[in-house]
Amino acid sequence: EKGGYEHYMLKEIHEQPQALRQTISGRLDTDIGDVDLNLNIPEEYLQSLEEVQFVACGTSYYAGEYAARLFEKIADVRATVSLASEYMFDGGRDPSRTLTIAVTQSGETADTLSAIRTAAEAGARTLAVTNTLGSTVTREVDDSMYIRAGPEIGVAATKTFASQVITLAMLSVYTGKRCGSLSGGRASTLLENMRAVPGAIQQVLDREQQVKAVAEEYADSDAFFFIGRDLGYPVALEGALKLKEISYDHAEGFASGELKHGPLALVTETTPVLAVLTEGSRSEKTLNNVKEVQARGAPVIVASSMENEKFVDELFKVPSAGLFEPLVANVYWQLFAYHVADSKGRPIDKPRNLAKSVTVE
Ligand code: F6R
Repeated sequence: EKGGYEHYMLKEIHEQPQALRQTISGRLDTDIGDVDLNLNIPEEYLQSLEEVQFVACGTSYYAGEYAARLFEKIADVRATVSLASEYMFDGGRDPSRTLTIAVTQSGETADTLSAIRTAAEAGARTLAVTNTLGSTVTREVDDSMYIRAGPEIGVAATKTFASQVITLAMLSVYTGKRCGSLSGGRASTLLENMRAVPGAIQQVLDREQQVKAVAEEYADSDAFFFIGRDLGYPVALEGALKLKEISYDHAEGFASGELKHGPLALVTETTPVLAVLTEGSRSEKTLNNVKEVQARGAPVIVASSMENEKFVDELFKVPSAGLFEPLVANVYWQLFAYHVADSKGRPIDKPRNLAKSVTVE
């Protein structure tokens, strides 16, 4: 049932191109530059929208962080992200102009359910973005959207993260078109970029042997630091989460610009730094941060769509995909985490102390 793969996680990493084709299937109309999402959200409501709030936990929270940045760029709507366990409906918001979106693969995460109930009680409109038909969250919200990634068995979320980001990207196009802030031309480009993602991820998957060799070379490092900016920042956080949960190594994600405000003290020759340098991640600035860590002797592993990264220790090529390049780069971090953990013989599909679905607060 693992389709010849040693672990479900590896199978699910490799399923991403197919999962994403399902996610977008029948939903993109490139000719008119719009999406067909089968949602019944009134247009007047979207036109007067003041804020989109994402609530989620773990990997889904990082998908929310990616999506909030897309909403600001694509729909020009103020977007905030809360860890579900920290969520409050703050005063000063007009609930009738707020859309609260629960992002949850399982649809059963207790903290996320609690947050979406808080939003609904305050009077906000609610939407669930989930992989699970008929899950609890879908019964609590005004509208639901399915990410259609197919079942995910490995505890570490992989293909569902990619499908969540693309689903939320479609939703940002939907919102931008209906509130008049997104032109048809720009929307068409975004839809083309979305269509390019499955093929771009396939090219990354085809380079797995390169990633495996690099992962094995650095597996015994003291710690791993992931850095990124803008859309690259949630990918840094997600890369670090994946590595720590399945390898049990110390891994942290930082906003590139924050390194010099503290974390740089941790950087040595035995702490590789993994950086995202792509479109949508302000790579010229992150490049300066890469130089800072190199000056401290840290090995630098870069996932990049740029041409001139010859000075780094390891370079993983990211095919072009516009604002989704950081999402494509994330697949390198998934493979890296997998191969570090596999080289140590970890129980990858069932890491200690963790459950696939967390139904307590
Ligand atoms: C990490 C992981 C968890 C989940 C989190 C939320 O790999 O899988 O962090 O993302 O428990 O779960 P859902 O999305 O089901 O609400």
